Amino acid sequence: MTFFHTPFLIRDVEVSNRLVMAPLHEITDQPFRKFIREVGGVGLTVSEMISSEALIRHAVKAEKMMAATGERPLAMQVSGGRPEALAESAVLCEAAGADMVDLNMGCPASNVTKGGAGSALLRDIRLAERCVTGMVKAVKVPVTVKMRAGWDSSQKDRGEFLDFLRMFEQAGVQALAIHPRTRVQQYEGHADWSIIARAVEAGTSFPIIGNGDVVTAEDAHRMVAETGCAAVMIGRGALYNPFLFRQVLEPGLVVTTEMRIDATLRLFQILLDLLEPREALHKIKKIGAWFTKGVPGGHGFRQNLHAASDAQALMVAIDALRLVDSKAN
Ligand SMILES: Cc1cc2nc3c(=O)[nH]c(=O)nc-3n(C[C@H](O)[C@H](O)[C@H](O)COP(=O)(O)O)c2cc1C
Repeated sequence: MTFFHTPFLIRDVEVSNRLVMAPLHEITDQPFRKFIREVGGVGLTVSEMISSEALIRHAVKAEKMMAATGERPLAMQVSGGRPEALAESAVLCEAAGADMVDLNMGCPASNVTKGGAGSALLRDIRLAERCVTGMVKAVKVPVTVKMRAGWDSSQKDRGEFLDFLRMFEQAGVQALAIHPRTRVQQYEGHADWSIIARAVEAGTSFPIIGNGDVVTAEDAHRMVAETGCAAVMIGRGALYNPFLFRQVLEPGLVVTTEMRIDATLRLFQILLDLLEPREALHKIKKIGAWFTKGVPGGHGFRQNLHAASDAQALMVAIDALRLVDSKAN
C-alpha cells in the first residue's frame, strides 16, 4: 500500500486512488475512457474538452461527448469564455451524469483562445472569476478547474497563478489540476513542477492535482515527492503506455509488446461496439499509433496502421508486429 493506493475526496466525491487520466481532445471520449478503466489503475477519468457554446445550442457532436458508460467518478470538462454559457453547459453535464464539472483554463489552441476560452481566461482573472462562480452556483456537483502556469513566462514569474488560487477558493472551486507550462510554451520545453509545489505550499482548501511530463512510474512518485500534490494526472504517458497507471500501483509490472497488442485489439473492439465502423477505424489509427512508440517493429506497425483501410488490414499490421516481437524474443 503506497500513497497512490489511498483514496481522496473532491468535496464529497471519493476518488479511489491518486491517479487521474488527463482530458485529451479527440482521445478521452467514452470508448477510450471505458478502455483505460478496464486496463486498470486509474481513479478518475475526465472527458475531452466540450465547447459550452456548442453544448447550449445542442450541437450533436458536443452532446455525444457527454456520453458515459457508468464509469465513476467521471468529470466532464467544458470550455468557453462566457459565464452564462459555461453555467448552462455545466447544468447539462450534471444532467448527463457528470460527478463533477471541470473548467478548461489551459487549452493553448488559438481557435479556442481567440474566443476568450481555454488559457485565454488566465489573462482576465475577473472574467475567470465570473465563469467559475456562475458554474458553482449552477450545479450541485463539485466544480473543478484545470489551468496552465500562466499565459507567458512573465505572468508565470510574477506568480499570478497564486492570485487565481485565492480566487478559486473564494468562488468555491473543489479541485485544481495544474499543467505547469505557459500558453506561449504550448507543449515545448518541460513542465515546471516547482509551480505545482508552490501551489501546494500556498495551502488551498482543495486538492492540487499535478500534471505534466509523467511518462514512467518513477516520474509519478517523483512528482509527489517534489511537489506534495494530492494526485497525479497523466496524459500522453498513458498513450505511450496504457498500463502506466497500473505500473504506479504495481511496482515491477513489466509491459510487453504482446500486452500492447492486446490493448490495441481491445480498444478497437470497444470502439467497434460504440462507434460506426469507419469512425472506429479512424480512432484506432490515431490512438493505437501511440501505444507502440519505442517498441521494436513499432515504426513499421504505425506505417501499416496508417495505411490500413479496414479491420482486416489492421489485423495484418498486428500480425507483422507480432512476428517482429517473436523474432526479438
Ligand atoms: C492530444 C492532446 C489533447 C489534449 N486535450 C486537452 C483537453 O481537451 N483538455 C485539457 O484540459 N487539456 C488537454 N490537453 C492537455 C493534457 O490534458 C495535459 O495537460 C498535457 O498533455 C500535459 O500532460 P502530459 O505531459 O501528461 O501529457 C491535451 C493534450 C494533448 C497532447
